[in-house]
Amino acid sequence: MTLDLFESTLMGTRERLGQQAYVLRGFALPYMPELLQALAPIQKQAPFRHMHTPGGYTMSVALTNCGRLGWTSDHTGYRYTCRDPLSGLDWPAMPATFLALAQDAAQAAEFTQYAPDACLINRYLPGSKLSMHQDRNEKNDYEPIVSVSLGIPAIFLFGGHQRNDKATRVPLFHGDIVVWGGVDRMRYHGVLPIKDADHLQLGRQRTNLTFRTAGLPNSSNTKM
Ligand code: SIN
Ligand code: FE2
Repeated sequence: MTLDLFESTLMGTRERLGQQAYVLRGFALPYMPELLQALAPIQKQAPFRHMHTPGGYTMSVALTNCGRLGWTSDHTGYRYTCRDPLSGLDWPAMPATFLALAQDAAQAAEFTQYAPDACLINRYLPGSKLSMHQDRNEKNDYEPIVSVSLGIPAIFLFGGHQRNDKATRVPLFHGDIVVWGGVDRMRYHGVLPIKDADHLQLGRQRTNLTFRTAGLPNSSNTKM
């Protein structure tokens, strides 16, 4: 099976997941060379790490961040910080090509003037998963989440406003983007355990970029 086939057959289509939620097939592919180039120095400066949840678990997904704010978790809870707790330094800046892609994708999903200040970068190895959750640590609960899939495929679960609502299973491939905001912003979502596969460019892993507007709209946040 060549993963390139998946990329090209669906490219350019927009699938509706909700009133204000869409899958944009292959939307990130034209940005790919710059995107992957920009990713390399970020992971060098702020390496992927497995965070602990407040409940005492270690996440199977490894993560890092770029942008003004970065999402972190430890035994005291989930939050956004300006600095990487591992190094004490600011998170790496959000590359211009990341921001351009996130804004273009938001626009394609009918969200204008999108100004994300946080980009969480998740790395899934085969077997990694993300349990159903809401993204609720952001100050802004209208602006969309823009979620970019890179590498081996995943089954994304897009649920409702209650944890146990029936979820739609959405296969996601390299270059696909999911955007959900507005009335759909607080819907539960997750990722099923990743099946082993080998991607031509990224190898045996999936990387996901999730853009959010995490801080105050007037950016009056103080250093945390
Ligand atoms: C997330 O919910 O933060 C990531 C979703 C994904 O990896 O597709
Ligand atoms: Fe999420």
